[in-house]
Amino acid sequence: MNGAGHRAAHMGFGMTPIGIDLGTTNTVAAWVDAGGEPRVLYGSDGNALIPSTIYFETPNVVQIGQDPFQNPGMRSENLAIQSKRWMGRPRSFLFHGREYSAVELGSLILRKVIKRAEERLGDQVGPVTIAVPAHFDVAQRAAVHQVAELAGVKLHAIVSEPVAATLAYGMPHAGSLYKGLGDGEPTMVIDLGGATLDLSVVTCTADIIDVPVVAGDAHLGGMDFDRVLYYHLCHHILDETGIDPADLPEFRFRLLDLSRWAKETLTYNTDVTMSIPDTWLEGRECTSLELTREGAEALWEGLLDRADRLLEGVLDDARERGIRISRVVFSGGASAIPSFRARMMERLGPVVAQSDPLMGSDEAVAVGAALYGQMTIPGKQSEPVKFPTLHEHLPYDLGVADDVGHLVVVVARGSALPADGEHVFTTVEDEQSQVVFRIVRRDADGAVTLLGELRLDGLPRVPQGDPDLHVKFDVDAQGALSISAWEGDRQPVKLHVAFSGDLTALRPARRGKKLIVL
Ligand SMILES: Nc1ncnc2c1ncn2[C@@H]1O[C@H](COP(=O)(O)OP(=O)(O)OP(=O)(O)O)[C@@H](O)[C@H]1O
Ligand SMILES: [Mg+2]
Repeated sequence: MNGAGHRAAHMGFGMTPIGIDLGTTNTVAAWVDAGGEPRVLYGSDGNALIPSTIYFETPNVVQIGQDPFQNPGMRSENLAIQSKRWMGRPRSFLFHGREYSAVELGSLILRKVIKRAEERLGDQVGPVTIAVPAHFDVAQRAAVHQVAELAGVKLHAIVSEPVAATLAYGMPHAGSLYKGLGDGEPTMVIDLGGATLDLSVVTCTADIIDVPVVAGDAHLGGMDFDRVLYYHLCHHILDETGIDPADLPEFRFRLLDLSRWAKETLTYNTDVTMSIPDTWLEGRECTSLELTREGAEALWEGLLDRADRLLEGVLDDARERGIRISRVVFSGGASAIPSFRARMMERLGPVVAQSDPLMGSDEAVAVGAALYGQMTIPGKQSEPVKFPTLHEHLPYDLGVADDVGHLVVVVARGSALPADGEHVFTTVEDEQSQVVFRIVRRDADGAVTLLGELRLDGLPRVPQGDPDLHVKFDVDAQGALSISAWEGDRQPVKLHVAFSGDLTALRPARRGKKLIVL
């Protein structure tokens, strides 16, 4: 399609908003057409999913969205995968001697999505609604803002993935708002993606969308199911041929891809044959392995148990708050695995599963993000709609690590947003003139992350333990945190938290040569 010509023709007629699921493994975009119908954006290759990969072919040329398994020539040291895991976290990646933050990597993927969408729609794209996991904290959400800024696109809103998935299942037509879901019945959203499992309870009435419970396992996803089949295959190859695939990196790569294919095939077929072509081992003796669906399920037992335990915990959590789940929504590509669904349904008991034949589970989040944009961007609705208020709960404790490393919780997990909290600290040394507050988050599983540090200077020179050092946290409805601190009766000082993630995210921006994005 001639994108440039079309764009010129449409100039001045506004832009097309899109919704984006910036996944760890795959990125998907969707939009809503003039009839209010949500549509997934496909590339010229017919795929909706863009692998969230970046290949630094040379210092100045990057290829976005290439499946490394289909391109075995790629050198792994030049390949960035799963950068979403590091959003808002102080880590950088080195390619051809240049440092990149997760924000920069994310913005390269976003640029690719926008480019593809503009080619497909023949229109300029914007503003965008980006979905993020419900448990994303302030630093991670701030990083997503920077991703959009670096990509040069206006960000309309960040919406949480389970809310987006719920909207996608409950509102296939933007015109038929709240049908089905507007009844306030609690929905369990189960999202098994490539790398993570996220469980969330979402309730939705005409006035409020609420996410009272979230939990997740950042190390349980479709890739782990692949890996189990891969190890099984490796044992078989070693037994049959004496070749250890671990010694042959390229071979390993292809076997992992074969395992992924086998996993996906077993969703639709009851058995699969993993055949290894002669060419993979340059004429050396080859082999094949047959696997039944039951056989694979037995191998996956450990993973399925982990998912089951996580769901059990979420159901307990919900029950304690008097919430009874009455339906389930499956999101994420790997939630198509039949044994996974069966285990989840067994644990949930007789609830009603919902499905929408219009889309695959790996497209639901992008479709929901597009619908969210359609319903909340002023002037985009054909008739006036009142969108329910998003009502989120803090999915982690926010607090300050004291001098001995203990966490003092200032705003507790589960607090309805917006929320605030205050705590009084004091000095640990005589005549201490400054204190450093270490702001941390603690997840439901006990994992602690340092979000940033802030300093209060100019304290009075008095004995240890004398000053009253007040710290107040304000978390807004979107989960953004602002902090004020003051000493004694003095005026509060509004402090901006220097999130560690932000600092690294900003540093390499617009530095070095311009990249050519393929
Ligand atoms: N039919 C299928 N059966 C089983 N697994 C599938 C099927 N289709 C896709 N998958 C798996 O889904 C996973 C990718 O899911 P998805 O695109 O939802 O991930 P993501 O959103 O990028 O990751 P995450 O949610 O962890 O950030 C891959 O592991 C893929 O193999
Ligand atoms: Mg996902």
